Amino acid sequence: MLPIIGQIRPWADPTVLQINRLAMHVPMSGFDRRSLDGRWSLELFPSPDGVPAAALEGERPRAVTVAVPGNWTVQDLSSPSGPVFVDKPHYTNVQMPFDGPPPRLPERNPTGVYRRSFTVPARWLERRAVLHVAGAESVHAVYVNGQFVGYGTDSRLPSEYDVGPFLAPDRNELAIVVLRYNAHSYIEDQDQWWMAGLHRSVWIESRPNVHLADLPVDTSFDPTTAAGTVDATAVVDFNGTPAPGWSVRATLRDPTGGQVGATIHQPVPHEHARPDGFTGFEVAAHWDVAAAGAWSAETPRRYSVIAELVDPGGLVAHVETQHCGIRRVEVRDRQLLVNGRPVWIFGVNRHDHHPDRGKAVTVDDIRADLTLMRAHNISAVRTSHYPNGDAFYDLCDELGFYVVDESNIESHAYNRSLCDDPAYRAAWVDRGARMVQRDRNHPSVILWSLGNESGYGTNHDALAGWIRRSDPSRPLHYEDAVAIEGWDDGGSAATDVVCPMYPPIEAIREYGEAGVGARPLIMCEYSHAMGNSNGSLADYWDTIAATPGLQGGFLWEWKDHSLRQRLPDGRVRLAYGGQFGDTPNNGNFMADGLVSADLEPHPAMREVAWVYRPVTVAMDGEGLRVENRRSFTGLGDLRARWEMLVDGAGTRRGTLPTPDVDPHSWATVPLPDLAAAPDRGCEVHMTLRWETTGDTWFAPAGHVVAWDQIQIQAARDPVSDGPASGSPADSLVSPRLNLWRAPTDNDGFKLMPDVASWLGVGGQSLGRWQEAGLDRCPAEELVGHRASVEHDEHGTTYRHTVDIGESLADLPRIGVCFTLPARFSEVRWFGRGPHENYPDRNRSATLGVWHGEPDELPYLVPQEFGLRTDCRWFEFIDPACRVAVRIDAITPQVLHFSAIRHTAADLYEAVAQSELQPRDSLTVCIDTAHRGVGTASCGPDVLPQYRLAAGLYEFAYRVSARTVGRVDSS
Ligand code: GAL
Ligand code: MG
Repeated sequence: MLPIIGQIRPWADPTVLQINRLAMHVPMSGFDRRSLDGRWSLELFPSPDGVPAAALEGERPRAVTVAVPGNWTVQDLSSPSGPVFVDKPHYTNVQMPFDGPPPRLPERNPTGVYRRSFTVPARWLERRAVLHVAGAESVHAVYVNGQFVGYGTDSRLPSEYDVGPFLAPDRNELAIVVLRYNAHSYIEDQDQWWMAGLHRSVWIESRPNVHLADLPVDTSFDPTTAAGTVDATAVVDFNGTPAPGWSVRATLRDPTGGQVGATIHQPVPHEHARPDGFTGFEVAAHWDVAAAGAWSAETPRRYSVIAELVDPGGLVAHVETQHCGIRRVEVRDRQLLVNGRPVWIFGVNRHDHHPDRGKAVTVDDIRADLTLMRAHNISAVRTSHYPNGDAFYDLCDELGFYVVDESNIESHAYNRSLCDDPAYRAAWVDRGARMVQRDRNHPSVILWSLGNESGYGTNHDALAGWIRRSDPSRPLHYEDAVAIEGWDDGGSAATDVVCPMYPPIEAIREYGEAGVGARPLIMCEYSHAMGNSNGSLADYWDTIAATPGLQGGFLWEWKDHSLRQRLPDGRVRLAYGGQFGDTPNNGNFMADGLVSADLEPHPAMREVAWVYRPVTVAMDGEGLRVENRRSFTGLGDLRARWEMLVDGAGTRRGTLPTPDVDPHSWATVPLPDLAAAPDRGCEVHMTLRWETTGDTWFAPAGHVVAWDQIQIQAARDPVSDGPASGSPADSLVSPRLNLWRAPTDNDGFKLMPDVASWLGVGGQSLGRWQEAGLDRCPAEELVGHRASVEHDEHGTTYRHTVDIGESLADLPRIGVCFTLPARFSEVRWFGRGPHENYPDRNRSATLGVWHGEPDELPYLVPQEFGLRTDCRWFEFIDPACRVAVRIDAITPQVLHFSAIRHTAADLYEAVAQSELQPRDSLTVCIDTAHRGVGTASCGPDVLPQYRLAAGLYEFAYRVSARTVGRVDSS
């Protein structure tokens, strides 16, 4: 049995949060530190009750070697001596992975004894030695040389222990026992993989016996005078015996390193002269900063406080530096203001995730996430649903991101009971309070979140009260408070913003227009990026931009959580829930990111970059209305290039003189001189692209941050009659009526049909379409269809009339499809592009003549993909002989098309990307109407204007063959 805790079993008791754990403080780096990261030995047991004391020391033949930081659930646990202990990741959304009720635990509860030895310099034995465990899932106990040191909970925040008394002069044996499940698992029930292990760093550090134990720094900023203040509190730990003669010297430096104001040197109080008035062994330093350089995500300027602890002999015993930002955050007049100005929340939700390392993300991983985010104009992150490692916040401070910092509290499966359960009250308060104590110096953190999906109860108000008193400088965020008590003024003890998840556009518009309540609306989650998704993102932003009280939100979510898995036959795939034998599970519901687990942006990412663009341009009378959506900076770092397109082909280019537009304001500038007026018959567009003039941390110079397209002239000729030869195309193309698309995750969960039909969650269209036989029956049998074919010297013209009865309204698509040999491997079109786009996700896709190869499936679970909307013509080219099969839209003047190397049936049947083999042919679909993609997998379905009503659909197109030149790639 494990010494000390084996009998009391703290893991089974939600009221036990810690034993011998040191108090939380802001991260400090002024101590002598030794990393203990690297290879550790790990011995796994099926339950914590079965771990013998002998496992803590001595030879253990069954132990394997693993990486720390790391999750053992994604590491190789094979051992030369004995059977492999199998403990895989387990994915659930709401449901717990084992049966409740709380605090019941499963019988099989994998418990790992991590071990390594270490030595410390002899001088460390005279000082304080502290072990730092930055993150262990889920709870852990520390033993040094076989002796119990301490115990800690909360898998997403660090724990520290005084290990000095247990250290030996030479070699030390460290054991950290980590349990997979515990009573607190019920409040760590986030929608993610259940993992296990030491997923963040471990180190040991030597602290002087008397040292600075904490250094919180508070700042304020007055936007009307640009005056700032900085208040630092140096908290001294006297190791139990306060002594006279100690002092703290504190200096403030500006972002360039120059000193601001005076150095403050104050004695550390050491006596409880009047215990009733004693406020602690603390020295407070205050600076007034005239003309402060305020911090914002656009101007991420950091000041630093340097605190020196001086001993009675005048020697510096400890120096600590803390960065801070001078800024003000407040909610006023239904707006979230930073430094007195409203800011747009161009946000995403981000989980810690790596396809190989699970929760063990590195600083480089975090930087890669943030770089790709900013390259797509994302400037705000909600740390869904727990505090991240400290490096994340440091980078956000430095690079400029607004952060909603979320406590590690989610009791989703028991979300209406645990929030009022006194057994969990201390855990609620401690988790939130420890997060605030660690992260409070980060200017990037603008809101504290009380957690996610845990109902709303007394435990929340207890935590809210603690935070409001401890840090009045930041507003609070908690979604369920408004979900349960209403948006107008509901739940205001726990949230200062109305932060709903997945609200319909109409609902947020109504809230904004009603003008009730005191709070701005910032969606904590919206536009669920599962598979082919994010329909109506631009419609959201039309409303947000036009409605007072709405300020944006956080897309769900940044990255797919799939995990790389090696199959017995050697193949490697990205796996989702259930593919590790984990039951119960929620399948691919975790593949809902804007980027794949490998950081490949999904097509919708272009739409995100567009709706979050920092500058917009629209026609305004005779000129252009240029709007600067930034809050603090002008457009001086950008250059606007325009391009005139005649019938989709770029003809003239130029640079627009960059207008001087104040933040959050707009100006009208003259249209560039497009000179040579093109023929009245042509379509003319102008595309404006704003690119960076210099290198930035996220992209080299020339990176396009914003673009808009303006129609200059609409008229166009009927189909132009190019040289055509009818016969080859006629023999290759035989269009069949087509109403079906391989269902998207939003249409319905094909892998989890029960979830959609029984629980009513997710899109219901798939079930409806299956019932109608759409996935089985030839389209001709389902609807009325008349077609005619005419041949002339220009090609073959097909005309279709399709009659959709009321019972079949809201179909996936109306059009035709045919196959071409795979040698037609180049695609060229005049329509929206270049990226995949759908009727309700195409505002980022400009009109032009584009070309490329057939798309490959960008989504983890096979589904519809690859559409291009609003095409005037498109052609498929055989590069060997430069012959193209060309389709011209006749009626209506634009059609949608896709050309991919899978049939809809292939995509529908396959359960994983890894199972899909491209065919030796191209499946071409031509649609006169295609249902939007919406976001029904979690949120509103396709809006009515993007659905296919019953009625008559008429469309016509001409097929021809022609010889083409080499495609110019400019
Ligand atoms: C929300 C939840 C997230 C995630 C999302 C769906 O309800 O807060 O954690 O489950 O839905 O992907
Ligand atoms: Mg949840």
